[in-house]
Amino acid sequence: MASNSNNSKTRLPIQEPAWWKEIFCYQIYPSSFKDSNGDGVGDLKGITAKVDYLKDLGVDMIWLCPLYKSPMVDMGYDISDYREIHAPFGTMQDWEELVAALKARGMKLIHDLVVNHTSDQHQWFQESKSSKDSPYRDYYIWRPGKTDTSGRRIPPNNWRSIWGNGSAWEYDETTDEYYLHLFSPQQPDLNFTSPALMEEIKDMMRFWLNKGISGFRLDAINFVSKPMDFPDAPIQDPSSEYQPAFSLFNHGPKIHEILQELQRDVLSKYDAFTVGEAAFTSPEQAVSYVRQDREDKEMQMIFHTEHVDLYGGFEEGPQEARDYVKLANVISKWQTYMLNHDSWQSVFLSNHDQPRPINNILQAKISQREEAAKLLCLFLCTQAGTLYCYQGEEVGMVNVPEDWPLEEYKDLVSQDYFRERQKELQAKTGEAHPDMTEVRKAINRKARDNARTPMPWDSSPKAGFTTGTPWMRVNEDNQVCNVADQQGKKDSILTFWKETVQLRKSTPTLIYGQFELNLDERYPTIISYTRELDDKRYLFIANFGGEAVAVNASTYGATPESTLVHHTLGSNEPGEGELVAYEARLYRL
Ligand code: NOJ
Repeated sequence: MASNSNNSKTRLPIQEPAWWKEIFCYQIYPSSFKDSNGDGVGDLKGITAKVDYLKDLGVDMIWLCPLYKSPMVDMGYDISDYREIHAPFGTMQDWEELVAALKARGMKLIHDLVVNHTSDQHQWFQESKSSKDSPYRDYYIWRPGKTDTSGRRIPPNNWRSIWGNGSAWEYDETTDEYYLHLFSPQQPDLNFTSPALMEEIKDMMRFWLNKGISGFRLDAINFVSKPMDFPDAPIQDPSSEYQPAFSLFNHGPKIHEILQELQRDVLSKYDAFTVGEAAFTSPEQAVSYVRQDREDKEMQMIFHTEHVDLYGGFEEGPQEARDYVKLANVISKWQTYMLNHDSWQSVFLSNHDQPRPINNILQAKISQREEAAKLLCLFLCTQAGTLYCYQGEEVGMVNVPEDWPLEEYKDLVSQDYFRERQKELQAKTGEAHPDMTEVRKAINRKARDNARTPMPWDSSPKAGFTTGTPWMRVNEDNQVCNVADQQGKKDSILTFWKETVQLRKSTPTLIYGQFELNLDERYPTIISYTRELDDKRYLFIANFGGEAVAVNASTYGATPESTLVHHTLGSNEPGEGELVAYEARLYRL
């Protein structure tokens, strides 16, 4: 029997329309988008050259991943100067030309605001570490070490870094103290309790807003406030010296005050767009940042990661089949909770931190790419929230091939994971060269590198990305999946994206409407929901599984009068009585 997850039929409040709710935002990873000068690294002039491509796709705003000066330990999320452009990406003049090209087409730009930490090469940190008396000392978080019972120097507390198994503290000899780094040791955390630091951050934000950006994506924003007495984290892993400390620094004690101050003193003055990255966040916590009827709301929306985290982590060993009932419930929980609490959300499946969803979420075979990519597109375009697409998603990019050697994975997280697992397996087996097959497979499936390969503009060996040696290997998949082959072609994934984005933009029900999940336990690979606004109703139904399912759309509420307005199978007429693998349909009821 079909049953609704939400049995109450109370009408959800209708959201106030706003431009930033209706836009289509495209995320660019500058290193891998388009190289204009043959040095193998994507750059600003390359992006400018592709602005018409983006306009044609229906893009209203681009989000540029960090383009500031950086030693690139974490690909720009380690900033050494907030006001300078990373030289391989070009000059400030190139940046201004990009902004002008976007403006001329009525498009907007947002930047990544990475303020949980800087690079250890930032002048502030260099000054800060030089002396306990430096005026920059309290820009970062320094604490003396402790001594254990055997007289060994140990870090100030037991916090584990978010990446790897090591401490979140690094000892620095110059002043005989430790500094905090939730991410890598080259990314020291900033101290938001320092008024001087706070003013620096505000000035830097004004600098970019005055130069013409429309707002920010706020990196790791839920981690910026720490309990400054730094208590030990509860023991979760008795075998380890260091413990995960999320419960202490996630949505930390002063997070709302910090965000309200940034909003009051800077963002509100520019009517700026804000989307906060906030992994490990519940809908209730999200609402505490974004609820619109509050005078002091802090951001417009967040990126929560609960849906993508269902399939996260470097898991080794046999892969479990995906549980799409869980996925449907997570999507439904967020859609209804946010709509029902006067709160807006972001809609995404891909970004630079996620493996490609065709592989990771759908586990589709390469022969099923086209249907799978279109399903994901229709799934995204029929949810409430601001729509995001990550570069390459619009042509159906997939993960890198399984046989790539480890050197091709450039991300520090992939490399650290390999090293740490090797040490663990060496210790466990006593072998100098333990079998690393499962570790390699896990990296292939889950590495962030999967999202970071050069954009496939064409089928040539360098993918039309560069004339030089690409900084990261081109995924050879570009021979069959690239922009040039798909552009202007009826039924291509790219054309499907263009059409579906236009359909969404012209259908307010898909952006603002109520969301109601239709669950039928007999069909665990089917996800279906209804969107409704002002007596207009739409039904989304899709088969997330790789096998056909004998199910009629009427089971989910389609009637003989329903009109099929959009579907994934191109010119083929969709089957009446079954949904083939990865088939997705949208009906007007
Ligand atoms: C989140 C970013 O998306 C990710 O790429 C980065 O490594 C971490 N924050 C640290 O800045």
